[in-house]
Amino acid sequence: MDNSGFQYIDGHLHCDGIPVTDIAEEHGTPCFIYSKSTLLNRLNSFRNAFSKHDPLICFSVKSLANLSILRLIDKEDCGFDIVSGGELYRVLQAGGAPGKTVFAGVGKTEEEIKFALKHQVHMFNVESESEMRLIAHAAAETGHTAAVAIRVNPDVDARTHEKTTTGKKENKFGIDPETALELAKETRSMPGVILKGLHMHLGSPIYDTQPYVDGLKKIIEFKKLLEHDGLIIDTLNIGGGYCMSYTGREVLSPQDYADAIGPILTEAGADLILEPGRHIAAPSGILLTKTIHTKETGSGKKFIIVDAAMNNLLRPTLYDAFHRIWPADSPTGMPEVIDPEDSDNMRNFDTERVDVVGPVCESGDCLAKDRRLPALKTGDLLSIYDAGAYGQTMSSNYNGRPKAPEVITNGGSFVLISKRESYKDLIAGEELTCI
Ligand code: LLP
Repeated sequence: MDNSGFQYIDGHLHCDGIPVTDIAEEHGTPCFIYSKSTLLNRLNSFRNAFSKHDPLICFSVKSLANLSILRLIDKEDCGFDIVSGGELYRVLQAGGAPGKTVFAGVGKTEEEIKFALKHQVHMFNVESESEMRLIAHAAAETGHTAAVAIRVNPDVDARTHEKTTTGKKENKFGIDPETALELAKETRSMPGVILKGLHMHLGSPIYDTQPYVDGLKKIIEFKKLLEHDGLIIDTLNIGGGYCMSYTGREVLSPQDYADAIGPILTEAGADLILEPGRHIAAPSGILLTKTIHTKETGSGKKFIIVDAAMNNLLRPTLYDAFHRIWPADSPTGMPEVIDPEDSDNMRNFDTERVDVVGPVCESGDCLAKDRRLPALKTGDLLSIYDAGAYGQTMSSNYNGRPKAPEVITNGGSFVLISKRESYKDLIAGEELTCI
């Protein structure tokens, strides 16, 4: 946590110098707390690593979509990676630049395409022949020209969780190189589209540089094929997927990725687009939660029941994802590394083995299984780390649970950037009809 805005000071967790208990007092729990300094540091170190290639950084909105955060990212001169009309609407509401926004996704509708054409997004990342024709048709009909990149499926195994792997041929994403070649040629007779780029996104998170190297090599081979046919590609978009550490152990840095693929990029000589989400957002946010009850079953199993649940942070339920959890008040601070293997890092900490679970009526609502934690009692605050990405954006109202508020630090204070939902919010939009 060296570079993190989340640090223990005198045994109390602080975010950018502010005790998280102060935030909990004002806004309650569960609550997402973002560290502005961490977000900006990570964005800048990512940008610096690739600076030689002067990339357009399109922050992946699906990872963290709060309007104020998108605005902050726009002010940092970044663009956005979006996958729906709803995400484009968010970018526009945040004052983000559609001209720096790239639109991916396998199921863009005509309505969404026209919305994006109207606002002149930078590029469509096209995922099928059918979609290319629809974009061409929509552009011709509305008098626009769409800049497009073909999302090539390079059939590379990024060795991520199977649910988040996207670059293998059996995945629904992108277009295989043979089909893509024919489609690229066909764009010459489509007045509404200009083929400018190639796109890949292999999956997320990727803990190794090799998939990028392999994927990029295939994309560049393909680029050469196109050039042979007189189709000049000036932009390469290599997607997102850059990892961060969920355990505190060291993982690849942005510089490692840049070093591995830099020479290939230089040789390719095209404009570069990068679509990071998690690397920047995940470590910038925690989900602060409070212990509601503790209980022990007859068999001696202990449960810590907290007020956050799978509706707030779906990742553990959906992917068996591991997030560090630790009490916000801890005289000895927090172990540097907490990992599923339970290594010696816990030696100096007095712990017991528990499951941390939420109130949702499913056994899958488990935020941490068989985890070593200091003894906890009702009212104790726990911090769930690395919840800044795919936390609030994957939240739901399941079990009638209002979404948690979001708070970010700003200078020496903190601001609420989305309110806790009310019960009224839960039924807004529904019609009570006699049926
Ligand atoms: N670009 C495209 C086209 C994507 O589909 C994604 C993520 C990204 C960029 C950003 O990937 P990142 O840099 O954040 O790894 N819900 C899952 C992650 C799904 C990612 C989907 N696509 C999770 O919680 O782990």
